[in-house]
Amino acid sequence: MAHLIIDTDPGVDDAFALALAALTPGVDLLAVTTVFGNVPLERTTLNARRVLALCGRGDVPVAAGAAQPLVFPHPHRARYAHGSDGLSGRSAALPEPTRDVEASGAVALMAAELGRATEPVTIAPIGPLTNIALLLAAHPEVKPKIDRIVIMGGAIDGGNVSASAEFNIWSDPEAARRVLVEEDVPCVLVPMDLTYRCAVDTAWLDKLAASGPIGSALHALTPDYLEHYTKALGWPGLVIHDAVAVAEAIAPGTLTTEDYPLDVECAMGPARGAVIADRRRPELIADTEDLAGRRVAVAVDTDLDALRAFLFDGLSR
Ligand code: RIB
Ligand code: CA
Repeated sequence: MAHLIIDTDPGVDDAFALALAALTPGVDLLAVTTVFGNVPLERTTLNARRVLALCGRGDVPVAAGAAQPLVFPHPHRARYAHGSDGLSGRSAALPEPTRDVEASGAVALMAAELGRATEPVTIAPIGPLTNIALLLAAHPEVKPKIDRIVIMGGAIDGGNVSASAEFNIWSDPEAARRVLVEEDVPCVLVPMDLTYRCAVDTAWLDKLAASGPIGSALHALTPDYLEHYTKALGWPGLVIHDAVAVAEAIAPGTLTTEDYPLDVECAMGPARGAVIADRRRPELIADTEDLAGRRVAVAVDTDLDALRAFLFDGLSR
């Protein structure tokens, strides 16, 4: 049983990830918290609530978090990939939310759920890391309750929002550096280098559409996203980044990881938001300098067909 909190900026791939967690038996989805990112906070919050309503999960509390990064303004959002409403313009076609937003806000909700948890909790941030940095800074007492933070983010070999940075990290590099470098809660980073390899094709999508009402509704959210990723991939497919990370969060060991010291570039310039993984052999690093920071488990591989089957099984409802 995975006890899970998802922090999200829906976002088409976020919608797939939320549905996977909401529908997979044995997942105890404690809370969903929202953050600015693909679209503004009020929109990501509405989208998250609508996706949970689609999945019949009005039992899951939703709270809104940060509307902007910790330090510098958010230059732009990934509207080009997710459409103007964050879900290819189809958000309004989803069921209306059946539960009010929690007035406490995201950080307080996460702290409360962690405080009352009797089993270790996994947090799966699949948007900018602002809420997570705030949680760890404001509520260090809950850190022992966190089993792992499984993060979709980062690019080891070339970014998407810039030549060197992936969108989630780039959206708030200061927050990402806090979580990945300064803090000591065990983290798994699921970078776009791997999520791109997990792309699904239109045959997979068409099968999902035919699998049932939820599969059909998720498929209906994809036109803008499919158009973007067909250009990005060079063939008709989708990269459902966030669902890959949530698959690891709910089924530990799905992804193969290697432990590296990381750093995040926070200087203004062409590399802002880049994640630097020090892949030199530890003995060499030790010789040349103190081992930089702590090590983070970076997801580097998976059984692609098994993962695609896991995602399909979890979403075909
Ligand atoms: O770079 C991919 C990430 O940015 C995903 O989380 C996607 O939803 C966007 O937020
Ligand atoms: Ca996202």
